[in-house]
Amino acid sequence: MDEPVVLLERRDDGVAVVTLNNGKVNALSGAVVAALHQIADSLTAEPPAAVVVTGGERIFAAGADISEFGGPDEARAITDSFHGALDAVAAVPRFVIAAVAGYALGGGCELALACDYRIASEKAVFGQPEILLGTIPGGGGTQRLARQVGPSRAKELCITGRQVAADEALRIGLADEVVAHDGLHDRALSLAAECARGAVLAQSFAKSAIDRGLSTSLADGLLIERDAFVDSFRTEDSQIGVKSFLEHGPGKAEFTGT
Ligand code: COA
Repeated sequence: MDEPVVLLERRDDGVAVVTLNNGKVNALSGAVVAALHQIADSLTAEPPAAVVVTGGERIFAAGADISEFGGPDEARAITDSFHGALDAVAAVPRFVIAAVAGYALGGGCELALACDYRIASEKAVFGQPEILLGTIPGGGGTQRLARQVGPSRAKELCITGRQVAADEALRIGLADEVVAHDGLHDRALSLAAECARGAVLAQSFAKSAIDRGLSTSLADGLLIERDAFVDSFRTEDSQIGVKSFLEHGPGKAEFTGT
């Protein structure tokens, strides 16, 4: 039987690892995008404690499968399925870390942008090269890239199709960390495991308040935070965390994730 095009491993430490597994360039074909969407929905339905999304060692993902391109009708189906899947990734109510070993181009870059945090290997390369095909990003790139690196840099990258190496990606805020190629997966897994030991429900309130706040005015975002702050006190972990602090000092709480 063929291997699945996207792999999901739920580890004992609570970390779920999602791995793109579609041949040597990890093109994001319709089948890959559908599998990713289904896996993201399953991670929302039964949340792990943290998530790592990764791809191939040389190519994280080469973007949409260009052999599936056609005219406007195909484009509509592709953009609808990409947005559905990447919105589902962004909506997973836990910290989602992209571990990018190599090329993250087009939809690969957009997938990394839909994650909460990007750890790049020193060999990683990011880009939105769709313009070189005479088209534009259709998986959220114009919006998420602009929010990540600012509108002028996003326009320059989308309009030239220029690729960005890891050091520049770090400098412009497209990557959040750059690590040695061989250390990428250990770093991503250890950060995810650290988060998994934390107050994961409060983490999800923080994630959601930041994401929802960025889509609205500052005043509305501040209202969102006030409600999320109150909601965090409905969790058992807030009782555990406060009690532990008062009795033993900071950083010693053993959270239950409830
Ligand atoms: N969709 C479909 N096929 C793709 C692809 C994609 N996004 N990216 C690469 N391929 C195919 C190539 O056509 C080639 O096919 P072939 O072996 O039948 O000739 C094969 O994968 C290997 O690609 P190649 O360019 O020879 O490999 P490389 O290692 O030199 O470069 C990339 C790898 C990813 C840097 C390069 O292929 C690339 O830039 N791909 C396009 C990225 C892109 O424009 N993405 C946006 C899509 S909207």
